[in-house]
Amino acid sequence: MFTSKELREKWIKFYEDRGHVNIGAVSLIGDGTTGVMFNVAGMQPLMPYLLGQKHPKGTRLCNVQGCVRTVDIDSVGDATHFTFFEMMGNWSLGDYFKKEKTRWTFELLTEVFGFDKDLICSTVFEGNSSVKKDTETAELLKELGIKEENIFFLDKSNNWWELEGTIGTPCGPDNEWFYPRTPGKDSSDFLTSDRYVEVGNDVYMQYKNMGGGKYEELENKNVDTGFGLDRLLVFLNGLNDGYKTDLFIDAVKYLEKVSAKNYDEDELSRKAIRIIADHTRTAVMLIGDKNGIVPSNTGAGYILRRLLRRAIRYTRTLEISSMEMLNVAKIFIEKVYDTAYPLLVEKEDYILSEFEKEIKKFEATLASGIKEFEKTITGIIRKNEFMSLKDANYVKETELTGKAAFRLYDTFGFPLELTIELATEKGFTVDEKGFEEAFKAHQELSKAQALAAKGGLTEQTETTTKYHTATHVMLAGLRKMFGTGTEQKGSNITEERMRFDFNCDHKLTEEELTYLENFVNKAIEDKIDVVCKEIPYNKAIEMGAYGVFNPTSQDQIVTVYTIGDVDMQICGGPHVKNTAELGKFKIKKEESSSSGIRRIKAVLM
Ligand code: ALA
Repeated sequence: MFTSKELREKWIKFYEDRGHVNIGAVSLIGDGTTGVMFNVAGMQPLMPYLLGQKHPKGTRLCNVQGCVRTVDIDSVGDATHFTFFEMMGNWSLGDYFKKEKTRWTFELLTEVFGFDKDLICSTVFEGNSSVKKDTETAELLKELGIKEENIFFLDKSNNWWELEGTIGTPCGPDNEWFYPRTPGKDSSDFLTSDRYVEVGNDVYMQYKNMGGGKYEELENKNVDTGFGLDRLLVFLNGLNDGYKTDLFIDAVKYLEKVSAKNYDEDELSRKAIRIIADHTRTAVMLIGDKNGIVPSNTGAGYILRRLLRRAIRYTRTLEISSMEMLNVAKIFIEKVYDTAYPLLVEKEDYILSEFEKEIKKFEATLASGIKEFEKTITGIIRKNEFMSLKDANYVKETELTGKAAFRLYDTFGFPLELTIELATEKGFTVDEKGFEEAFKAHQELSKAQALAAKGGLTEQTETTTKYHTATHVMLAGLRKMFGTGTEQKGSNITEERMRFDFNCDHKLTEEELTYLENFVNKAIEDKIDVVCKEIPYNKAIEMGAYGVFNPTSQDQIVTVYTIGDVDMQICGGPHVKNTAELGKFKIKKEESSSSGIRRIKAVLM
């Protein structure tokens, strides 16, 4: 039996004994320099050194590095996918190469893990037009005692390692090591059966990925070794389920106990337990990291929120309180990762309080969100039934609209993939593109609202308030001259002047400018009251109000400012009480702002 703690120790000791320095792990959170949100591979922090930079700790390094990968978050729930995992690594930075590396990995497998050398299989690169066949490694393997029939030459899709989707990064052919789960008579089924498990990978990193299938030779001949701790632990203990290792077993047992569900026998509960355990573990790691993050609506914080909310939702499947996630988090902090990640213990109270906050926040809307979701689905099913009765050729709707998904997101805090997951369970798809569009439209609306609320004002003083009302009157004059297609395209107001942009296809003539000045001054002389009203959006439009405004619903209450029969705009204000307060209006300048947009600067005297 290997425990996770032993495995980490054995790894480090094995390589320290061979002259390596343990460099420890870097933060799980990207520092913004590599463009990645999380650390996704053991070699990621080593990239500059693999490309040639000198490492302060020397040329032989090793560590155990946490990684977070959320690309297949949907696959979590099976026996093998995790959003957090640890990579045991060691590196030669221009130091030793294939001879030493093949021998050490061979020693590790046979002496530390107790593998039978006759059962070890190994794959090497078969070569292509730019990199030659790796017969050198194959020869070294044979010398070590690996049977020739257990060595396989494979193509780039198998025996080449590079960090997917990256350019300018180190990469190269690799030598992968396999061992059978069950002893068979020989390896003739190596390529076809799933009897063999990849236990580790030695990459001979001597190239730089230039993009478009082009590779440049590096000055250094590096080695980059990666052995996935979580996966190896499963294998070394003769298991076939990652949740049965000591990393997870206590969390699983706890969830079984509080839910009174059976992990082994009840498939639905098993999936829920796995999701809660995996997502809780990753959330603990992300909040408790040295550069820890908290749930939010953007970037890494949003990924964290998605993990927590997905786990919260699955506590319903188990019929337990979502607050139980705190107890699961405690297991990881106090029992599983206490020695490898002592910072988690230090930050325990903080981690738990962040869990609690997010759980409370989501619980406040989760039940009504699920009700809303079910109502929408029932609506579609009813419509389908009704229409099919009327028309035999009717094609049933099986998609939830982007708008409905966005409402679940915006009003009930449902991350999109949660809605997709719920929909899939009911046999429905979700219009993801429609969701993105609704999302974008909403962002633009928020921006417009913020702008409208500010009214182009940077500071609200008596003077700037006057200028703001003056822009309304002037825009009314422009619309009178050029039609209602004329709109505000920008506004900037200071204590000294107003600056106003609007769409217009020509430079304003003298006559037009005079007309505009007179129009505004007439409205001032008429001493018109400015009236503010809060009414439903559709009513405002019916009455002839206009403005840069996209309502969330037709009956959304909006603020409308009416200046007699001169102007009626949807606007956040503020405005003067009577146009008489404006004094005298004078245009100072008319110029082009950008293509099709004119700009007027004017003052009040
Ligand atoms: N970088 C290699 C891997 O992650 C070792 O498999």
